[in-house]
This record gives sequence, structure tokens and C-alpha cells, in this order.
Amino acid sequence: MIYDLIVIGGGPGGYTAAERAGGAGLSVLLAEKRVLGGVCLNEGCIPSKTFLNSAKIADYAKNGSTYGVHAEGVKLEHPAVVKRKNRVVKKLVSGLEMKMKKNKVTVVNGEAVISGRTGDGFQVKVDGAVYTGKRLLIASGSVPAMPPIPGLDEGYKKGIVLTNREILDIETIPENLVIIGGGVIGLEMASYFNSAGSRVTVVEMLDHIAGPTDREISDILLNNYKKKGIDFRLSAKVTEIKGNDVVFESSDGIHRVSGDNILISIGRKPDTKGLGLETIGVETDRGRIVTDEFLRTNIPEVYAAGDVNGISMLAHTAYREAEVAVNNILGKRDRMRYFAVPSVIYTNPEVGSVGETTESARDKGLDVEIIKLPLAYSGRYVAETERGDGIVKVLVDKQYRTIRGLHIIGSYASEIIYGAAVMMETEMRVNDIREIVFPHPTVCEVIREAMFEI
Ligand code: NAI
Repeated sequence: MIYDLIVIGGGPGGYTAAERAGGAGLSVLLAEKRVLGGVCLNEGCIPSKTFLNSAKIADYAKNGSTYGVHAEGVKLEHPAVVKRKNRVVKKLVSGLEMKMKKNKVTVVNGEAVISGRTGDGFQVKVDGAVYTGKRLLIASGSVPAMPPIPGLDEGYKKGIVLTNREILDIETIPENLVIIGGGVIGLEMASYFNSAGSRVTVVEMLDHIAGPTDREISDILLNNYKKKGIDFRLSAKVTEIKGNDVVFESSDGIHRVSGDNILISIGRKPDTKGLGLETIGVETDRGRIVTDEFLRTNIPEVYAAGDVNGISMLAHTAYREAEVAVNNILGKRDRMRYFAVPSVIYTNPEVGSVGETTESARDKGLDVEIIKLPLAYSGRYVAETERGDGIVKVLVDKQYRTIRGLHIIGSYASEIIYGAAVMMETEMRVNDIREIVFPHPTVCEVIREAMFEI
């Protein structure tokens, strides 16, 4: 049989593409080498959210007396958290399997390798069997970047150094945890393990955490976590891992910090190894598959979506990219827009961001007005938060009076931010937003409030 579409990879990009294409009546084969759901469902977004939810409940219980609620003997029982995480993942994976069935997608388990091309289409080998597809969609995702730090590989083999995959399954809470990289994974894991009782040290190369996040927001996050007892070593260059020690260099000399475990979270890189891209000549650039706004590669009828194109390594970007690719396959013109893709850091407090930051707007020379409001403008925030230092920052285009960026740190930020993405996608102007009735009392009302500060 010749499939209309072969999808390589069963993460958010791959399963969404398969679902949409199957639903539209195409014959689809999806190959997954590990577990359906990919990194996001099995060792990323979802498991980490179950961890962070337990941490939040523990934090609330521990600090309940501020709100007149006294709880004694509060204990985060890590094995129970892991067990629940596994249950959640299993439930979602089986839901996905059903979705594939419903959309008549053939799922094969095994590593897919592109082995060639004939007049009928592209050949893909999975576990000895060869399948042919008129089109290919590559959604093979990404893997953790492992820098050439002496001792890192050895530490990884010994189980001292962990990536985001292994850390989600450790059975005991490390007394001391060292995290290399203060980006999204590093901060989310620092948040959980701090709440779970570890002494956490984050070693970060830059002079700030949370990478491209608006600097003022990342500074607030840093302060919150310092208060919770997380130790941050910024502007620190890791030079070696010696057993349980992370050796790093900073302006005042060489230091070392010791951990029962060391988490390496310095970014991820597209996973194209062994895919056989060269057999059909798919263009790559430093390991990532080059795609255009229609998610096409340089080879006609070959598409790539998700982390593998390295543009915006987020599950929700992958969903939309997959849909754009499938729509183009189906002959419906659709185009990927990246300017209003929101991002979230699920720490406590949460951070939600979309669009330009103060720094990126400055670097690009954009003519924007920046409005900043404390979340204390929201009655609900005040009612629910003691000594909260959350803020919202809105970047408004001076000429068009549209939103160029919005950043929020505080409760519900993860849910609120989509509203800002909608405002950007639909190019709403300040006056349009002023005319929207927001529910009261809510934290999101501060966005409306900000529109009257311009
Ligand atoms: P990241 O790119 O967010 O952060 C990596 C951090 O490591 C950066 O701050 C960088 O300066 C630092 N770093 C790099 N080399 C270093 C070195 N040698 N020593 C010390 N620090 C070093 O990458 P991360 O946290 O690994 O996440 C990977 C991917 O997963 C990202 O693309 C992220 O978007 C995605 N992700 C998204 C989440 C979310 O949306 N909530 C949650 C977790 C991951």
C-alpha cells in the first residue's frame, strides 16, 4: 500500500499532523521509536506539570497559616508524586492511541529511517519493514544538548548527571541538587525540588535566569526563588564535573558545588541523527531541518514540524506547525505565524510571555510605549496573595496602538497569556481592548486596566 502521508515522530507535531490528516481522509502511517506522545507527554510538559502541581499544593499547605489555615506535618511524598505522574501520562497516552484509531492512523513502533525514493514516493524503513508514502512529515523532535564538559558523560553513565528524562523518575529526593542551566527546564525543576526539600543550586552561564524572558520579570522570579532558598550562581562557566562536584569559573575565581544529583538543562537540539535525510537531500542547518512558513523543506512533498526545525521549540508551536503543514498538503493555503506564540514558565509564581520584550524591542529599535502595573491592581490578586510582587508589562506600538508584547508574572499567568496572544494575532488596538468587558474580580483585568494607563 502507498500511504498519502508518512509521519516520523509521535510527539505533539507528529500526532497532531496524523490526526488532522487522517481526519481529512488521507491514509496516514505514523512511526514512533519510543512512546506515542513524545517528549512533551512522556518526559516534558505533562510530567513536569504533575510535579509542579504537587509542589504548589505542598507550598500552599506549608504557608497556609498566612491565610488562616493551619496544617501540620505537611510532607511531599515523592514516590507518590511519581506514581501519580505515571498514571496521568498513561491516561493521556491511551487517549492519544484512541485518537489515532479514530482517525484511522496506522501507528508503527520503531525507529524510522528514510531509505530512498521511487516514482511511487518516499521509502521509510521501520524495524525491517519498508513503507512508501507520497509525502513525508518529519516531526522527530529534539534531544537534550550535552556540552563537551569533561566528566559529564561519565557522570551521566553513573547516574549522577541526569537529563529531564531521568530526573522525572528518580525515587528519592536528592539532599543536594545542582542544576546546570537556569532556563525553563532548570527553573521548573528547581521549583519542584526546592518545594520537595532539596537544597538546590542553579549554575547559569548568563548574568540572569530564564533566558530571553523580559529582564524585569526574570529578576522578580529570581528574587522569589532566592527567598525560597535556591542558590543561584550566575555568570558561571562550568569547566568540569568531578564525581558529584560541578566545577565552575566566575569573575572571582574557581568554585565547586556538590550534588547528589546534577541536572543538565542547557537547551535542546533537533533530533535528526540517523533519519536518513541525506538519502533524499533534505537541507539542514546546524542540525535543524530548514523549513519555510508553509513548513515545507527544500524537497517537494517533504515537510517538517516541531522542535526538529528549531524555530520555536514549544509543543504548542508544533501543534500549529503540524496543522499548517497538513493544510498545505490538502491544498488549503495556510501560513505559520510566529510573532504571537506565547510561552510560559510554570514556576510559582508563573511567568507568561508573548511577543517582544523590553530588551528585544530596544535591540530592534521599535517605537513602543511600555506600561507596567503591579498585579495588586487586581482585587482578586490582593485577596489571594500576601506580599505578592507580580507585575504585568505591556509594550504598545506608538504608531499603530497595537500590542507588541505582554509579560506577566504571578498567579494564573499561564492561563491569562493566551488572551494577550489573541489580542496580538487579531491586531487589536488599545481602544478595542478598552471596550472588552473582562470578568471581575480576576487577575487578567490588569490588562484592561493597563490600557487606561496609556
Ligand atoms: P533553555 O534554552 O530554556 O535554557 C538553557 C539555559 O542554560 C540558558 O539560560 C543558558 O544560558 C544556560 N546554559 C547554556 N550552557 C550553559 C553552560 N555550559 N553552563 C551553564 N549554563 C548554561 O533550555 P532548557 O531549560 O534545557 O529547555 C529546553 C527546551 O525545552 C527549551 O526549548 C524550552 O522552550 C523547552 N521547555 C519548555 C517548557 C515550557 O514551555 N514551560 C518547559 C520545559 C522545557
